[in-house]
Amino acid sequence: MIEFAKRLEHVEEYYFSKKLREVNFLKASGKPIINLGIGSPDLMPPQKVISALVEGLSGEQAHKYQSYQGLPELREAIVAFYRDVFDVYLSPSTEVLPLMGSKEGIMHISMAFLNEGDEVLIPNPGYPTYTSVTKLIGAKPVYYDLIEYNNWLPDIEALENQDLSKVKLMWVNYPHMPTGAKANEAFFIRLVAFAKRHNILIVNDNPYSFILNNEPKSLLGVSGAKDVCLELNSLSKTFNMAGWRVGMVLGKSEFINAILKVKSNMDSGMFYGVQKGAVEALKCTKLWYVSLNNVYEQRREIVWKIANALNCTYDKNSSGMFVWAKLPAFVKAEEFIDVLLKDKSIFVAPGTIFGSNGEGYIRFSLCATTDDLEEALARI
Ligand SMILES: Cc1ncc(COP(=O)(O)O)c(C=O)c1O
Repeated sequence: MIEFAKRLEHVEEYYFSKKLREVNFLKASGKPIINLGIGSPDLMPPQKVISALVEGLSGEQAHKYQSYQGLPELREAIVAFYRDVFDVYLSPSTEVLPLMGSKEGIMHISMAFLNEGDEVLIPNPGYPTYTSVTKLIGAKPVYYDLIEYNNWLPDIEALENQDLSKVKLMWVNYPHMPTGAKANEAFFIRLVAFAKRHNILIVNDNPYSFILNNEPKSLLGVSGAKDVCLELNSLSKTFNMAGWRVGMVLGKSEFINAILKVKSNMDSGMFYGVQKGAVEALKCTKLWYVSLNNVYEQRREIVWKIANALNCTYDKNSSGMFVWAKLPAFVKAEEFIDVLLKDKSIFVAPGTIFGSNGEGYIRFSLCATTDDLEEALARI
């Protein structure tokens, strides 16, 4: 018998991969399913992005292997974008590496920095990939609590009372998915100081900065952050390009080189046309962000009504592409979403898939049309 690698023993199939099979089965059997579960942007990217991709197809260079570090033009566009929107200054030749989505960056960073047995601080609730990648590498997830009372920010004092001697890396993700919580500058400053005191690499996974958020922030904006921090960003949500697979990691050259060592052994550059499209996206003016957020604002208004109808509470100041809603006391998230799916054919993500602190919460995606949202509201 051919055995699977031991590393798979502790990793489960992604929740959505399993649950969507059930949802799709219901749909195929005629149920009028409204999917408010997954955060896959349904809007179009900017037209000039698509044109750049199409134009990029005809050149001879388009079909060759591309540079492991991405086109210089793309790196320059990323650096200009970080300068203009975050006031963060980076070198295009050494401090930025384009990625095929930020998700792959989670794996590359983990491969570059973690040894078996190292500990990794992971938010609870948080993006499940931090845990699965940590386990695949043979490192140990150590969860830190995020709770509503603390505005979903880590309690740094409590962390300092823990044994951190084996902790090598900490994932943070602000604006936070799934809660939509934002971090302020004072918190980022404390976080960098914490990282320096304990020699921990902090990675801010920052793909939601521009969705329903008036104050986009980068952890790299904190003075001295580059010594101990990296940041991941992505075009998936900001420019509706999730299927294009374009992201980036930013930080000091020694860190970027280590990640490049891993990445250049795993793929052979990003498709030329995709890079040309990404360059155009990064050059979008304010108008793009305003029109994108207009749509999300309208959708969120209806989702708030749905949440009210379900007797849930939520924070109107949160940002990102989701509404994180608290269920009435003692209601279990997974039982609740199963009833909603069965009785109303509406699929919503239970908070528990993001960790135990997600119990009692559900997450609505804003990636559904206003028609679908109105229909969901009417059904409830
Ligand atoms: C917190 C978080 N990080 C990273 C990702 C992955 O984004 P990308 O499409 O850039 O790989 C997601 C996608 O859902 C996310 O929610």
